[in-house]
Parts: sequence; structure tokens; C-alpha cells
Amino acid sequence: MNETIRTILLRRSIRAYQPRQIGEEELHEIIQAGQYAPTAMGQQPWHFTVLQNFDLLEQLQLQCKSLFLHSDNADLRAVASREGYHVFYHAPTLLIVSGDCKAITPLQDCVLAMENMLLAAASLGIGSCWVHSVVMLGGTDEGKLFRSLGLGIPEGYVPHAAAVFGYSAMPLPEAEPRKSQRVTFVR
Ligand SMILES: Cc1cc2nc3c(=O)[nH]c(=O)nc-3n(C[C@H](O)[C@H](O)[C@H](O)COP(=O)(O)O)c2cc1C
Repeated sequence: MNETIRTILLRRSIRAYQPRQIGEEELHEIIQAGQYAPTAMGQQPWHFTVLQNFDLLEQLQLQCKSLFLHSDNADLRAVASREGYHVFYHAPTLLIVSGDCKAITPLQDCVLAMENMLLAAASLGIGSCWVHSVVMLGGTDEGKLFRSLGLGIPEGYVPHAAAVFGYSAMPLPEAEPRKSQRVTFVR
């Protein structure tokens, strides 16, 4: 098995982080990996936000938590009600990829960029976890407040992918068994 496939198989969502920040060089490599994802017609219709300000991270995670607590979905309410639940698991970095609404496939382009970044981070020994509430918040009225945090998201762009990054403070979780029978080979 080569290194790339090994990284893909070993990447796990990390839900406990050390407070120390990830290195600048690693951060730039992770972002570059995102920027090299494929995009429809090569449009690269995205904007990357790197949020590392402790106070803003806390403000945003409180808004996300409140969104879950007031959700119609009982599972989301239950998650947010757990003792000590922190939407970002105290990770020191949040990356958001926002897409240009006028592009051909902004959602797919942004998600592919994020997957590249999750894998790049794993290859560097940096943990990550997708945090979907940031994307949900971006689509609500409260999202206007989220915009007011000054995350540099251009007008006409919406967040399609968000994940936290940092050094793990937990053992690497086991992967769930794969639904490997769900493949049809037509030859
Ligand atoms: C679209 C999407 C949304 C997700 N949202 C969250 C989230 O809000 N919080 C969280 O802790 N994990 C979230 N995850 C991570 C999944 O729970 C995780 O990928 C899944 O359980 C498989 O575990 P693994 O990533 O360790 O392989 C999300 C994953 C995806 C693809």
C-alpha cells in the first residue's frame, strides 16, 4: 500500500485537541492541498477562511451550539446538551471553504477542497474534524451575525465546508466497518 492510500485509510475524525497551534508551514501546505482540488471548468470558485482567534472561535462555537439546541432535530439537540460539549472540541484552528453562488458546482468544489485538506492534515500528523454546524449557521438569519464576525467571506459566497484542525489529544479511533458489499462491478 502506498503512503497516499495509507493516509486515506488512517484519517479519522478527531474530537479532542491539544491547545498548541499548528505550524505556519503545515497550515500553508494544508491550504495549498485544498487549492489543488479539482473544480468544474477549473473555476476555483472558492474562498478559504482560517480562523485562529480564540475569542472569535468561542463566539462562533456558542452560536453553533445554540443552533443545535434550538434545532427541530432531536439528535442534534441531544448532542449539544451533552455535558462539556464544545462544537469545535477546543481545536485551535477552524477552516471554512465558501463557494461562489454563481459558479457551476460550488458545493462540490468546496467539499473536494476540504477533503484534500483533511487528508493533507492527516499526512502531517494533524487531526481534523468536519463541523457542519458552521455550514448550517451560514444559511440562517443568525448567519448574518456570523458574517459580521469578519471572516472575509466575499458577497455572493456561502460556506459549504468547515472543519477544525489541531494536534490530537486522543487515541486514534477505530474505523467503522465499511459497507464494502455496496459495489457493483459491470465488466
Ligand atoms: C457532511 C459531514 C458533516 C459532519 N458533521 C460533523 C459535526 O458536525 N461534528 C462532528 O463531530 N463530526 C462531523 N462529521 C464527521 C463524521 O461524524 C465522521 O466523518 C464519521 O463519523 C466517520 O468517522 P471518521 O471521519 O473518523 O472516519 C461530519 C462528516 C461529514 C461528512
